[in-house]
Amino acid sequence: MNDTFLKACRGESVPYTPVWLMRQAGRYLRQYQKIRKKVDFLTLCKTPELAAEVTIQPIEALGVDAAILFSDILIPVEAMGMALRFYEKRGPVFKNPVRRRQDVERLLIPEPEEALSFVMDTIRLLRRELKVPLIGFSGAPFTLATYMIEGGTSKNFLLTKRMIFESPEVYRSLMEKITETVTRYLKAQISAGAQAVQLFDTWAGVLSPHDYREYALPYVKSVIGAIKSIASGVPVIYFVGQCAGLLEEIRGCGADVIGVDWRINLDDAIKRLGRRFAVQGNLDPCALFLPPAEIEGRIRDILRRASSSRGHIFNLGHGVLPETPVENVVAMVEMVHRLSSRT
Ligand code: CP3
Repeated sequence: MNDTFLKACRGESVPYTPVWLMRQAGRYLRQYQKIRKKVDFLTLCKTPELAAEVTIQPIEALGVDAAILFSDILIPVEAMGMALRFYEKRGPVFKNPVRRRQDVERLLIPEPEEALSFVMDTIRLLRRELKVPLIGFSGAPFTLATYMIEGGTSKNFLLTKRMIFESPEVYRSLMEKITETVTRYLKAQISAGAQAVQLFDTWAGVLSPHDYREYALPYVKSVIGAIKSIASGVPVIYFVGQCAGLLEEIRGCGADVIGVDWRINLDDAIKRLGRRFAVQGNLDPCALFLPPAEIEGRIRDILRRASSSRGHIFNLGHGVLPETPVENVVAMVEMVHRLSSRT
């Protein structure tokens, strides 16, 4: 078992910097496209044998040091009772978004081993196959709330912010239901065999520090606190998209590892976060379109900036883009291993 990733999460010494990529399974891989031609995305997520297969594809193709469960952050939201569809260009759509108190009251808090058993089955299958640690994940409460309120992806998140400002008690009751759902979901993933978990707060960076502290962070803290109370040894990674304005607030989240996007230098982020956390990141996903020699320069820079951290897991600052040349991703993983080798 390659445990370099888990050791780096815990701040223990490692022979080289472990690497995995957000969205490492997906359309940039031919093997993935082949399966997607036969089944739609949601069916893929809900069929344990297929979900396990596409989880393993990048481990074999890239040589990364961790696997991430193949699923989507919106899967548990569908189990809360919201009809979900994915469209080719538009992405995810909830036809009946949450706008009023009655919409919140209708939402369920799913029992994961019942409504989401296919996820736990996928995890159990994967643990029998994998030689690298398996990362489970969930969307963080605020990011899930934006999809539920907006009905899909958004530019300025006006509907979400209006709910926060105009009906804070409706927003709070929604966040409480999401938080309970996410907590149960992650606990079930850990019981099924997930060896680390990541909370994706992709959109939290659209909040001011004050609003983040009031309306997003308390729910993240609650989820992480609950996980730590039953599984203190399972590393928790908290990723915030556009985190640079929020790092002082994020210090209170309770995670072991902070995922950092590329809009800030890693050494600046480490200074502002303090020495309590390991960091994960933070190559611009578009840098994978550069010639390999230039990718190498950027990797060197990130490794150098990460040297002051408690632990470093190399990753992109956000997900792999579908157009990315696979050979550059393979080269990147090899470069991280070679350039960071301490033996
Ligand atoms: O990282 C991995 O390899 C594991 C699988 C994974 C997916 N989505 C697969 C996916 C994970 C961890 C996610 C998380 C996710 N999903 C996030 C948070 C991370 C981030 O990217 O910010 C968000 C915001 C979503 C919601 C989502 N899912 C959107 C907006 C879209 C449409 C955009 C797109 O890339 O098509 C998806 C679809 C999606 N999720 C795909 C994959 C592989 C593409 C589906 C396809 O095959 O057509």
